[in-house]
Amino acid sequence: MDLRGKTLCASGFHTPRRGTIDVLDDVLIEIDGSGVITAIHRHGDPNYRTIRYTRDMSGELVTLPPGSYLLPGFVDLHVHAPQYPQLGDALDVPLEVWLQKYTFPLEAKYEDVAFARRVYGLLVDDLLANGTTTALYFATIHQEATRVLVDTCLEKGQRALIGKVAMDNADECPDYYRDASPQAALEGTRALIDYVRGHPDNGDGRVLPVVTPRFIPSCTDATLEGLGAVARECGCHVQTHCSESDWAHGYVLARHGMTDTESLDRFGLLGRRTVLAHANFLTERDMETVWTRQAAVAHCPLSNAYFANAVFPLRAALEKGLHVGLGTDISGGPSASMLENSRGAILVSRMLQSGVDPNLPAAARSTFGSAQIDFRDAFYIATTGGGIALDLPVGQFTPGYQFDAVVVDTEAEKGTIRLFQDRDKGEGVLQKIIYTASRPNLATTWVGGQQV
Ligand code: GUN
Ligand code: FE
Repeated sequence: MDLRGKTLCASGFHTPRRGTIDVLDDVLIEIDGSGVITAIHRHGDPNYRTIRYTRDMSGELVTLPPGSYLLPGFVDLHVHAPQYPQLGDALDVPLEVWLQKYTFPLEAKYEDVAFARRVYGLLVDDLLANGTTTALYFATIHQEATRVLVDTCLEKGQRALIGKVAMDNADECPDYYRDASPQAALEGTRALIDYVRGHPDNGDGRVLPVVTPRFIPSCTDATLEGLGAVARECGCHVQTHCSESDWAHGYVLARHGMTDTESLDRFGLLGRRTVLAHANFLTERDMETVWTRQAAVAHCPLSNAYFANAVFPLRAALEKGLHVGLGTDISGGPSASMLENSRGAILVSRMLQSGVDPNLPAAARSTFGSAQIDFRDAFYIATTGGGIALDLPVGQFTPGYQFDAVVVDTEAEKGTIRLFQDRDKGEGVLQKIIYTASRPNLATTWVGGQQV
C-alpha cells in the first residue's frame, strides 16, 4: 500500500537518541505526497482523537494490525553488490588472499552486463525483503555494470549510494581487473557521478553517487589525490576500507609511513560524508581525526570475525561521539540480514569485553575493558546511526525525515519470533525482534512512503 499522502496508525520502535528506545503506541504518522513524515501524534496529544477520526472518515488512515510493529528501515552502511554470488562462501583465507583468489576474479565478471543485471536484481530484492531501505554500495570498476546497479535501485525503489570502485595500483591489483590508469579511475568516477545526477528517474535523489577508492593498497597516490579533488568538487559521499586487518593496516604504514586515517585525510578524502568501512585499528589520534572531520565508521561485526583479526571497539567509538552505522559487508560477512548483523554486533562486543581464551584466568582473559553493547545500541547503529553517518534524513520517525520503514509481523506462521502476551511488553518486544526475528517476519517495506 502506497502511504504517500496517508496517515499511518502504528505501534513500533525507533531510537532517535543512542541508549533510549522510543516506544510508539498506536501513533499517527502523517506522510506527505513526497513520502516525507510531516507530523507524529501520540495518544494523549490534544488533537490525536480528532485527527484519527477525520483521517479515517476521509479514507486516508491506514492501520497496522495487532502483532505488527513498525521499525525504521535498516541502513546498510557497507555492501559489495558484486560479491553477492559469493555470500556464505570463500571464508577460509585471510583478506589479502581472499581478494586475489576469490573476489577479484568474481568482480571481474561484471564486464558482462547481463550477469550484472541478474545478480543486482536478486540482491536488491533480497535486501528490500530483509528490511534494508538504504544501502551504501561498492560496485566494480566497470562503468556499464555500475550503471546497471543504479538503474536497478531506481527501478525497485531502494535508496542507495553507489560507487564505481577505483583501483589502479598494478602492484596490488591483477591485470585482468584494474583501472588502466589514474585518468581511467577518475574519469570513470566522474562519469558515474554525471550518470546518477542526470538520471531521468532520479529527480528526488533517491540514488546518490559515491567516490570509492577501494582501499589505499589498491590505489596509486595519483588516484587517491585525484579522487580527493573530485570529492571536493562534487561534494559527494566518499567510501573506502580503513585499517581493516593487520595486513591492510601494516601495508599503509609501510607505504605511507602513517595510518590509513592520516593518509586519507592528507588526500582530502576524510569529510562529513565519508564512510570508513571497518576501521578496526584506529589509534587514539585516528579516532580524534575521524571525530574532527565528522566522518563515519561502518561497523561490520560478522566480517570482522573472518577478515579483520580484531573487533572494532564500537562502544568506545560511540562514547567518543563518532558517527557509526552498521554494515553487512556482503560478502566479507556471510549474511545479508541487518537483524543478523545487529545480533553479531552484540555478540562480538561481549567477546571483546570478556576475552575468549579459556586457558587464561578471567582477569587475564579480559584485556580490553568495557566493550559490551546491548540491543539498544545495535538497533541504533542499524537505523539512526546509519542515517547520521550518511547525513541523510533517514533511520528515525521524525518530522522532516523520509518515511522509510519495515513492518515486523510477530505472528507470521513461518517466522522465528514468539511473543508471550503476559511477559513481552514495551521495549522487551524490540529486544526479542532484534534477537530472534528473521525475513519471514518482515511483512512490508516502504521507501519514501512507497511500498517496495
Ligand atoms: N578491502 C579491500 N577490498 C575489500 C573487500 O572487498 N572486502 C573487504 N572486507 N575488505 C576489503
Ligand atoms: Fe568491504
